[in-house]
Amino acid sequence: MKGVLCLIIIFMMKYCQFIILVPCKFDSRCVCLNDTSKPFINVSCVGKDIIKIPKFPPTVYSIDLSNNKIGSIPNRSFEYQVNLRILDLTSNCITVLETDSFKGLQNLHKLVLERSCINFHKVPVSVFTPLTSLKHLNCKYIWFHGINLPGLLVSTLIHLEYLEVDVSQSTPYGILFDKHFTKLLNLTKLKTGVCSGIEFDEKTFINMKYLTAIDLSSCVSQKYNQSLYGRNKLNSLALGTFILPQTKSFLSLISDVKTFSSLESLFLIGSFEPNVEFNGLIFRFFNNLQIHTKIKELRLNNNYIREILPPEKFSYHQELFKFWISPTIS
Ligand SMILES: *[C@@H]1O[C@H](CO)[C@@H](O)[C@H](O)[C@H]1NC(C)=O
Ligand SMILES: *[C@@H]1O[C@H](CO)[C@@H](O)[C@H](O)[C@H]1NC(C)=O
Ligand SMILES: *[C@@H]1O[C@H](CO)[C@@H](O)[C@H](O)[C@H]1NC(C)=O
Ligand SMILES: *[C@@H]1O[C@H](CO)[C@@H](O)[C@H](O)[C@H]1NC(C)=O
Ligand SMILES: *[C@@H]1O[C@H](CO)[C@@H](O)[C@H](O)[C@H]1NC(C)=O
Repeated sequence: MKGVLCLIIIFMMKYCQFIILVPCKFDSRCVCLNDTSKPFINVSCVGKDIIKIPKFPPTVYSIDLSNNKIGSIPNRSFEYQVNLRILDLTSNCITVLETDSFKGLQNLHKLVLERSCINFHKVPVSVFTPLTSLKHLNCKYIWFHGINLPGLLVSTLIHLEYLEVDVSQSTPYGILFDKHFTKLLNLTKLKTGVCSGIEFDEKTFINMKYLTAIDLSSCVSQKYNQSLYGRNKLNSLALGTFILPQTKSFLSLISDVKTFSSLESLFLIGSFEPNVEFNGLIFRFFNNLQIHTKIKELRLNNNYIREILPPEKFSYHQELFKFWISPTIS
């Protein structure tokens, strides 16, 4: 019986894939996920009070170092991580980056620096240059906010597709999405973190011409003023709370929607305060969406829209059309 079982196990080891979760040999604070059918391992060292970045072997594919106490990334910390694709450093109060902090990470696809403490105006200007394959950079909810990410820092990341970032009204610390962002020809997705009181006008995204998915849902007290007029490649858009008078922003959006010929998803969750007088605007809005866009999904949760017509007034022909309004207070 034992022999048969052994045989079965040996057979399975040979032909099946095993995912083995073990304390890593190179650092017992980390857990190694080793899929026996693949040559790489994934490493998780979450919440272990780690202060100094451990030395990882070159076979590592992803590293999760979130929720530790790492305050700096010294030169060459990842020198041998030639296979690393994902590096997650969320919730470490990192303040110090050096010129060669990311040296060796030429295959990294995703870097997460969310909830770090980096002042992007005080780091070496070429700190991200080694990241020649980077597609996704998340540097939102930085404790040191009130500054805008200088385009020069990211202008060499020509493969960048997705940027998650805090935004601030133009300050002595730089303007929002400066001219260096024009180099990022593949940047199609944008999502904001800290974002308050911003007027998005026709100049805001002028250096980001190829955006197809824009998520500004974290923006409170935002003003929409022709910010995305003419974006016929825009596929999905999420906006946050509008500043008073909210109908001004809404009117501008209603009119710009006519140019969003590729739009499929629109999220206006919690965008309107109570007592906004719409005077037929909602109908114009639905009408423009229906006539001019490819809208399939519209979310209007958590709004105070009083004026809404019965469903038979709308004749959406798209089969996939999804429509969320609850809990809408009417
Ligand atoms: C490591 O992570 C990547 C991406 O999440 C995944 O495709 C791969 O299967 C993982 N490998 C292991 C051994 O878990
Ligand atoms: C994964 O585990 C197997 C069996 O323990 C081992 O032979 C292999 O070298 C490990 N893979 C990596 C990438 O460490
Ligand atoms: C890090 O590397 C850069 C460039 O090689 C060098 O100028 C700098 O002095 C180094 N930093 C430290 C703390 O050694
Ligand atoms: C940009 O994206 C296109 C299509 O996804 C791809 O073919 C091209 O190689 C990318 N260019 C860069 C510089 O990453
Ligand atoms: C919108 O922007 C235009 C042009 O910059 C400006 O003239 C107008 O006053 C703005 N409208 C609002 C409502 O802020």
